[in-house]
Amino acid sequence: MQDDDRDSSWLKLELQDDFDEELEQEIDDDRLPAALRELHQHRKKVSIDRGLYFRELLRLQGELLKLQDWVVHKGLKVVVLFEGRDSAGKGGVIKRITQRVNPRTCRVVALPAPSDRERTQWYFQRYVSHLPAAGEIVLFDRSWYNRAGVERVMGFAGETQVEDFFRDVPEFERMLVRSGIILVKYWFSITDEEQQLRFLMRIHDPIKQWKLSPMDLQSRVRWEAYTRAKEEMFERTNIEEAPWYIVEGNDKKRARLNCMAHLLSMIPYKEIPREPVLLPERVFDPNYERRTL
Ligand code: ADP
Ligand code: AMP
Ligand code: MLT
Repeated sequence: MQDDDRDSSWLKLELQDDFDEELEQEIDDDRLPAALRELHQHRKKVSIDRGLYFRELLRLQGELLKLQDWVVHKGLKVVVLFEGRDSAGKGGVIKRITQRVNPRTCRVVALPAPSDRERTQWYFQRYVSHLPAAGEIVLFDRSWYNRAGVERVMGFAGETQVEDFFRDVPEFERMLVRSGIILVKYWFSITDEEQQLRFLMRIHDPIKQWKLSPMDLQSRVRWEAYTRAKEEMFERTNIEEAPWYIVEGNDKKRARLNCMAHLLSMIPYKEIPREPVLLPERVFDPNYERRTL
């Protein structure tokens, strides 16, 4: 077999893997009640062509590998925040960003609700311990912005704590940036109707029901309070050193590609040539077979 052939058959297998994942999602659709299924089918029709999606996804994932090498080579420190309403698709894009990179270079931080001990600490403390060292990328699936969102809307934080947060956060982020961290903030935006549909799909799907937390259900009830909280958050935290970037999230596939392409555009990188890898000869041990019997 020619090297080229081998490369492309490998790629085909990888592609198949991705298709399988999509297929699983389609089988999911069969479990939906008829009315929802129709809506869902329609949405899929107006979304991006599948072949194009996968080709672009794989291209971007290839570029992310180059970015990863660059980050290691240059000793960069990168922090990416993923914020947005429940079911906006943060998890989906994070999954695809991390799919093919080295988990030691690029890791995800998704903190649970703070413990009693953490509640007594400086608010930013538990996030600070996860910040990157040189050559690392940290993706925050939700972040310190919880205080301006869920904690505020659900009353887990009082107005004084929220005010303190808004006062501190620009300075906190400026300190990070001054210390050499590249900080990128994404807000995944979905419409009221889209969130309603996604929640209904989760309710009707036994293998997705676990995703619906009591917090999620409240975020339907309190849609408008979340909208107001989000608007104030943008007004008070959209600083020059670390502006917010909005990802239109209603179309999941487009949202993923747009977010990945945008992230790549935030860090000018060059391909670091890799040394060709040769598999070393295996050292033969004559006792090996006997010992394993
Ligand atoms: P997710 O949407 O990340 O799967 P949830 O919907 O359960 O998780 O919760 C949303 C966010 O609210 C999480 O970041 C969680 O840490 C936070 N949260 C939940 N309960 C509390 C609480 N009592 N105090 C502070 N934050 C909380
Ligand atoms: P998000 O950025 O996730 O808050 O979602 C914003 C989207 O929801 C935009 O398309 C808004 O026009 C729409 N939107 C915001 N508030 C409301 C509301 N109260 N009712 C209906 N749609 C809304
Ligand atoms: C969210 O946005 O709540 C999570 O990312 C779940 C999802 O991927 O839809």
